[in-house]
Amino acid sequence: MTGALYAVSDLHVSYAENRAVVDGLRPETADDWLIVAGDVGEVFADVERTLRLLRDRFARVVWAPGNHELWTHPNDPVTLRGVARYDALVAMCRELGVLTPEDDYPVWRGEGGPVTVAPLFLLYDYSFRAPGTTTKEESLRAAYDAGVVCTDEMMLHPDPYPDRESWCAARLEVTRRRLEATDPALPTVLITHWPLVRQPTEVLWFPEFAQWCGTDRTADWHVRHRAAVAVYGHLHIPRTTHYDGVRFEEVSLGYPREWRRRGGEPAPMKRILG
Ligand SMILES: [Fe+2]
Ligand SMILES: [Fe+2]
Repeated sequence: MTGALYAVSDLHVSYAENRAVVDGLRPETADDWLIVAGDVGEVFADVERTLRLLRDRFARVVWAPGNHELWTHPNDPVTLRGVARYDALVAMCRELGVLTPEDDYPVWRGEGGPVTVAPLFLLYDYSFRAPGTTTKEESLRAAYDAGVVCTDEMMLHPDPYPDRESWCAARLEVTRRRLEATDPALPTVLITHWPLVRQPTEVLWFPEFAQWCGTDRTADWHVRHRAAVAVYGHLHIPRTTHYDGVRFEEVSLGYPREWRRRGGEPAPMKRILG
């Protein structure tokens, strides 16, 4: 098998300019795979349309949810909340043949392989606290005081869990077990919308936003679960960094105002392996 493993995230297709960028996403060979690391959009039908288009072009599409797919947006006729919404997204992906965190992890056998490709849904638990705070309550209050509050607080419902951190704890438990059951002889590509480690959030313009960006409980997962590469998005700060010798790739497109500021035509698809 030839071809390459590509990744992208944060396509945010509610923006016409971003839909034009998505229209330009094409494989280079018939064997190329595409990882989509969350925030395709918030309206269910938009997510479906976009994943269908990408599935028609790439040999395989692997998706992990972002916070935007999990919103129950007032403009969306699909009014499902929380776990029911996630389950419906997974069912939709299965109809399309797009792989999700609920499917068997595929093995990339092209160049740079074999590696286990693991899309993960983990959420966050407010442990990336705002500076100078020690509890979730203090951290949230600091965010409200600074006027930096993630829309998740209004639209990402945790039902039937009492709160988002409980949902996160449940996801961590099932995902840890899944990863421990993978072939120990193979390295992994770990794919999460929210970064596995806190360090990428240290460059955020508003540090109070970090509490919606991950969990301290995955701080060693890139080492523990043999990551060759860790792919994430959410921060809208595309870049390559290394932690403990592991390559981390932030692969977001982001909002038009963000990619326009970077200049030139956006080329958000990043080659991960191959
Ligand atoms: Fe995003
Ligand atoms: Fe996000």
